[in-house]
Amino acid sequence: METILSGIQPTGKLHLGNYIGAIKNWVELQEKYRCYYMIADLHSLTVYYTNTEELRENILELYIDLLSAGLSDEKSVIFLQSGVPAHSQLHLLLSMITPLGWLERNPTYKEKIKELKQYELNTYGFLGYPVLQAADILIYKAQKVPVGQDQIPHLEITREIARRFNYLYGEYFPEPQPILTPVPKIAGTDGKKMSKSYNNAIYMSDPPEVIEKKIRMYITDTKKIYKNDPGNPENCTLFPFYKIFADKEIQKEIISGCASGKLGCVACKKRASKLIIDALQPFREKREELKKNKKQVWERLKAGTEKAKKVANTHLEEILEKMKLNFMR
Ligand code: ADP
Ligand code: TRP
Repeated sequence: METILSGIQPTGKLHLGNYIGAIKNWVELQEKYRCYYMIADLHSLTVYYTNTEELRENILELYIDLLSAGLSDEKSVIFLQSGVPAHSQLHLLLSMITPLGWLERNPTYKEKIKELKQYELNTYGFLGYPVLQAADILIYKAQKVPVGQDQIPHLEITREIARRFNYLYGEYFPEPQPILTPVPKIAGTDGKKMSKSYNNAIYMSDPPEVIEKKIRMYITDTKKIYKNDPGNPENCTLFPFYKIFADKEIQKEIISGCASGKLGCVACKKRASKLIIDALQPFREKREELKKNKKQVWERLKAGTEKAKKVANTHLEEILEKMKLNFMR
């Protein structure tokens, strides 16, 4: 069985973009792979290092969201990155063999610096973001990494680091390959990519009336101005939700209704809201249940972290041996 590792930063609650673009896929992969899913709190520190007091609550909320969305701590190892010190240790060792040029050329580095102007990101840690990500993946010797398109440059750096390690100290790490999520970017209420940073997200935990209100804000096909104008679902930011949450029959009905002008956008939005609200019902129930006993939930995350630790520590020993650094063993 091949090993998978992926991670998500604890920077907010799960939204539909995260679910459709990443977590839904993680849930499905649990059936076919040995999966390690990580809450990447150290990565979130690379930007939000000044406000650490919210972190514990954010981690817990995200863990509850992940379990409610269908990740299973029996099928997979779900853990907290900072709880496995081997990630930090390997990060340091890998930093020794990572040329600065690889990091300075990283497109996401340049983009994020521009995008997050309000944060002081001229730091060693932020430049080293992909080295930490390489350590996350390589410490489990993962072969596959399910990610969105935006993470591809980081995975390339991971492979380069793995290759360089193998060349310098002998064959050890597999070169991990991405598993790209087959869905395009999900739009938010304003038509831009759904993101917690744009204040345009529908959260998985939003109550039904909030979901309905947010769906009403969506920009539909801009050529369909009056109710009876013919529209094209492919130009509508709402239609991707039908592709995810409705069966083929309903999708066909919506396409022909929209194209013929029989279906107005108001009615279409109502129907989409209902589909989403119904689909999220089990999620909301599970979430309520888990929230009742936060202490127990935290213990589950701790148990997952212990499992991850065992594997990571065994590999770290082997890595130190490869590097001829196991002096104290
Ligand atoms: P955000 O933009 O809200 O900060 P993140 O960057 O933390 O979200 O993304 C976490 C995961 O969810 C990533 O794997 C990313 O590819 C996926 N994702 C985030 N937003 C979307 C979206 N609008 N559509 C599809 N996938 C998304
Ligand atoms: N950088 C990823 C993101 O922002 C999160 C992440 C951290 C990750 N470590 C990882 C993803 C290792 C895959 C593998 O979405």
